[in-house]
Amino acid sequence: WVLMVTAQTPTNIAVIKYWGKRDEKLILPVNDSISVTLDPAHLCTTTTVSVSPTFDQDRMWLNGEEISISGGRFQSCLREIRSRATDVDDKEKGIKITKKDWENLHVHISSYNNFPTAAGLASSAAGFACLVFALGKLMNVKEDYSQLSAIARQGSGSACRSLYGGFVKWIMGKDEKGTDSLAVQVADEKHWDELVIVIAVVSSRQKETSSTTGMRDTVETSLLLQHRAKEIVPKRILKMEEAIKNRDFASFAQLTCTDSNQFHADLCFRIISLVEKWNKAEGTPQVAYTFDAGPNAVLIARNRKTAALLVQKLLFCFPPNSDADLNSFVLGDKSI
Ligand code: DP6
Repeated sequence: WVLMVTAQTPTNIAVIKYWGKRDEKLILPVNDSISVTLDPAHLCTTTTVSVSPTFDQDRMWLNGEEISISGGRFQSCLREIRSRATDVDDKEKGIKITKKDWENLHVHISSYNNFPTAAGLASSAAGFACLVFALGKLMNVKEDYSQLSAIARQGSGSACRSLYGGFVKWIMGKDEKGTDSLAVQVADEKHWDELVIVIAVVSSRQKETSSTTGMRDTVETSLLLQHRAKEIVPKRILKMEEAIKNRDFASFAQLTCTDSNQFHADLCFRIISLVEKWNKAEGTPQVAYTFDAGPNAVLIARNRKTAALLVQKLLFCFPPNSDADLNSFVLGDKSI
């Protein structure tokens, strides 16, 4: 026999961003975040999970190709769901599975994205949320959506927010084990239904740097991030919740853009991180950076040779047409 469950989960787009982890393994963030979940008809993942006594190992296919699930993130999600499995009694098919049976049964997972994977469209969010939800249904897990979100979080942070529709807050939580780091719904999908989200897919290429790596670099090198997490985001979250509650688009737009600008200074952080790593490796500073109001970095190299190397490093980090397309350099009067 084979028992099967299919689920569909939309992706979500953060309007107050999650960037930076305080625990890499459990995926615990340094700040709360708020997102809006897209309509499932558009950007979504569809996942079918099946169980059969003939399966001899857990396996997964993504967009038709088998992928490895030996990594910690998949294993955490599988383990957490399995440990909550309960008895299944499918009278129609005459299948009975006890809580104990689940320990020895294996699953096959088949997942499809109807949008480009890893192109910055939060495919991991829809993917892990869908995986956890589908496995939860298959194994008759009784946990509520918030508790499931804390499991999806261990697959990919942003995934916890895709368990709900509408506007969703990921509460960072305080517990070291992450039990209180979960998603709650701020307002449902009907609350503000005039809003339309248009996504301009400029590039469907895979990201050069994954969010995971980008975040790690930022946490390691940026004091700005700590300031953002402690001083800026908590206030912004309150204002954003208020704006959503009142359907106040002016405030909503202002907060969304400000949060993105500060970040999309992702580019800033990446430049800062590049310079700091380089300076550290050399033991003595090679390059100084300074930022004015915008994300443009002013980089001061100690000499012409360093400047030439710097340009090479920047081109390597930000190749043309990557997500952060740094295609022009304005050189100062000491040009190389
Ligand atoms: C910029 O959730 O993909 O989309 O937790 O390492 O899997 P991991 O990262 P991920 O990061 C998403 C970052 C973001 C902002 C956001 O969705 O809040």
